[in-house]
Order: sequence, then structure tokens, then C-alpha cells
Amino acid sequence: MAKLYVNEKKKTGHINPELYGHFAEHLGRCIYEGGYVGENSEIPNTNGMRNDVVAALKEMEIPVLRWPGGCFADEYHWKDGIGPKESRKKMINTHWGGVVEDNSFGTHEFFELCEQLGCKTYVNGNVGSGTVQEMSEWVEYMTLEGISPMADLRKQNGREKPWKVDYFGVGNENWGCGGNMTPEYYGNLYRRYQTYVRNYNSDAPIRKICGGANVADYFWTEEVLNTCFSHNPPGFHGFMDGLSLHYYVHPEGWETKGSATEFDEKVWYKTLAKAIYMEELIERHGAIMDQYDPEKAVGMIVDEWGTWFSVEPGTNPGFLYQQNTMRDALVAGVSLNIFNKHCDRVKMANIAQMVNVLQSVILTEGPKMVLTPTYHVFRMYRNHQDADLVESFIEGVKKIGEEEEYAVPNLHESVSVAKDGSVTLTLSNLSVSEDIEVEAAFAELEPASVTAGILTNDMHACNTFENPEHVKEEPFTAYEITGKGLKFIIPTCSIISFSVK
Ligand code: AHR
Repeated sequence: MAKLYVNEKKKTGHINPELYGHFAEHLGRCIYEGGYVGENSEIPNTNGMRNDVVAALKEMEIPVLRWPGGCFADEYHWKDGIGPKESRKKMINTHWGGVVEDNSFGTHEFFELCEQLGCKTYVNGNVGSGTVQEMSEWVEYMTLEGISPMADLRKQNGREKPWKVDYFGVGNENWGCGGNMTPEYYGNLYRRYQTYVRNYNSDAPIRKICGGANVADYFWTEEVLNTCFSHNPPGFHGFMDGLSLHYYVHPEGWETKGSATEFDEKVWYKTLAKAIYMEELIERHGAIMDQYDPEKAVGMIVDEWGTWFSVEPGTNPGFLYQQNTMRDALVAGVSLNIFNKHCDRVKMANIAQMVNVLQSVILTEGPKMVLTPTYHVFRMYRNHQDADLVESFIEGVKKIGEEEEYAVPNLHESVSVAKDGSVTLTLSNLSVSEDIEVEAAFAELEPASVTAGILTNDMHACNTFENPEHVKEEPFTAYEITGKGLKFIIPTCSIISFSVK
């Protein structure tokens, strides 16, 4: 028996909705086929955007979308993606599969998609192969209301009003595919490029994201912050609103990665242990950020995270298409709990990637669409968005797993209180062999109304185009209300989300 203590009176931070963000790159079938099929497609669409995908993402309450990359961002020249589609430049997507990129999805289409989704916008600029002028003109094109060459060009291309850019990334992975820079060099470039990311609309300022570290590269974080924070005018926090962090889980390492669907228990626990490693990364990068920014004015932006397995057999290796099982659901469950618990520093996180690439919430095949187990987790956690994190603690957690190095806790939770006072409790059982009896105890709350959903199945279970609803959220009613708490059994390999009032 485990005892879960919740102090719903003790609010410890605010969970930005953006913690539940997504990322769509010009990579494989993420944008093309996944989100965008073009106005002339037989697949039902609105202005080229797939109706089924848009509806599913809205239902999941997608809060923000990052675009156009990824590695693609530092090779993307935005002017290739505006104007009449028939005259847009075609290019080879050298990073991803060597296929033709016809630029039919560009700036206007991105904002159209976000408008349909009702989500915030995160545009990633090009530092690696782009100029300051190119970046500055893009911002002018997107956000300037008045008269200017770029605002006029936008109007000429059919968009009178500027759009709202909520977040702007100044480069991506500039330690690697974004230019192989040293941290000091990038830090100086960041200072320079961001100067020209102008805020033309003081009511809707653009939040600027500086390119942060890969995994445990603490040297990068230290050096970039050192460069950006030196000689700052008062109130300028390194000229940035956010610093990114990228971390992917590949159970067998970068070279081999491992199959998305064929794995044994040892690899199950290893994968989950690697997912939980996110917590150490946040804490250690966060400790460096604390030295420069003790007020936590700069958000940690985990704008690429998720599982990265070997591609599905027979698919283009450059397309990064993988299936998604209950293992991915558990990775999502614990990762989102970790982001919630660090919401004082983590202000946005974007799972990679939205459709058909890596740990997707949606897979498509022609007109067919399936919602992955990861989708259901995001939907089950949606009430955490914009809620306040509260104190929680589990007594009686056991370490499980076959290898000591990759031992994980059997239970993992986070709890928040929404504006209407309802408590959202998300709890995972990471064990593949043991159901666990749980008693949840609130500080004062006497549950009067409880609704709950469960995602549970065999560890290999996934949704396919032949059997799209094999894994899905089911109502969970097997709980007992006990004065100031709840009693229930959480089955092996499952995630439960409670909403309690
Ligand atoms: O998400 C796939 C790739 O992973 C991104 O393009 C890049 O930023 C990262 O290395």
C-alpha cells in the first residue's frame, strides 16, 4: 500500500499551459501529410489543414506550436515560403530524407494552422545559415502593423493585419546542426541577432528564446549565460525570456536507439529511467540558471523532448517515423509530472513531434488517422494547464527494475489546483508486474465530486490503422471516497487522472 499525501492548500507554482506544447518541423510527414495536405486534397481540409488532425489537437487543447524546426530552422529561408505557391522555390531538405521541399507550407500557412488550433505561436529563426537582416525582416513581416517594406509585402500577399508571435527562437541547436558553434561564439551571436527581433507591438511582446544545451552539456549553459548576462543594462536578463534544453530518450543509445515496439522488461525500465533523468537535467541546468537569474525571470524551455527509437521497418530513415506504445505513454506521463513539479523554472516544453515524427500524438496514413497512447496522456493531463501546482508526496514508493542503474519509482505523481478549485491528480504505475493499492489523503478537501480516467494496457500495446482504438482512455470508477481522501488500486502499466472537487 502506498500513501499519497496532497496538500491542496500549499500552492508552489503556476503551471504554464505551454508546458503541454508541441513541435512541428519540416521533417518526414509531420507538416506535409500530417498537418497540411493542401487545398486541393481529397482529404477533408480547411485551407489545406487536415480537419481530422486539427479537431483532435483542439480536443487535446494544444497550447502552443513550435515551427519550422529543429535542424530545418537553421536552413530555412522564410522568403522562399511566401507569395503564390506555384512560384515558391523548391529545395532539397538535406537534413531530413533528401526529399523535395516545395515551400507550400510557409509563414501564412503556419499562422493559419495556429489560428485553426487556437494555440500560441513559437517561430524558430535561422542563425546558422541566415543573416541578421533576414531574421529581422521576418519579424517585421510577421508583426509590424504600420508601413514598411516587409509589412507591405505581407499585405501584398493577402494578409492585412500582422500576426502575433508569442515566442521567437534565435537559432536551434547551434552547438550542432545549427552551426557547430562554441557557446561563447553563439552567446555573442545571440546578443546580436536578438537585438533586431523587435517588439513592434508593446501589447503583445515577443518572448525571445536563446538556444540552450544538449542533454547534460552544463558547460554550454554556463558559457552562454556568462556571455549573455555580462554588461547587461538593468532589468535585462541576458536579453532573453527563455533558454532552451533538448533531451531525447533513446534506450539503447544514440547509435542503436532500439525498436519502438519490440522491447523486453529490462528495456521498459531502462527507457523510463532515462525519461526520469529529465529531472536531474532540469535541476542541474536550473542551478546554473539560478546563479545568473535568481528571480527566475528566464524560463527553461524544453522545446524538444520525447522518445527517439529506430524508424519503423521499411520507412525512410530520414523521416523518423516510429510507432507509439504504452511505454511512450508512461514516458509522457512521468515527463509531464516532472515539468509540472518544476514549473517555477520550466515555462514551456514541446514534445517532438506533433504528427508522424518521433513521439507523436497523432499518426496518419493517407486519409486515416490514429491517436497514439501519448495523445491520450496529453488529453488526460489537460486540466493541469494554467493551474497551480500543489505539494504532493508518496510514502511507500518502491524502486523497481531489473538493473540497479535503471531502477525507477513504481509510482509517479503530480497534483494541481485549477482556477475553479478542482484538484487534478495524475498518477502513473510504472510496474509491469504489480498492481498497487493507493490511499490518497488531502489536507482538507472532502471529495464531493470525482471524475477519473485511466489509460492502461499491455506494455507493448499501441494503436494501428487496423485497430485504432486499442489503447484509449476509459472512465475509472473503481475508487472509494474516504472522508478526506480516495482509495483505489492502480493497475500495472497505467496512468490515472483524477479531477476532484
Ligand atoms: O526532432 C528532430 C531533430 O532533433 C531536430 O530537428 C533537432 O533540433 C534535434 O536534433
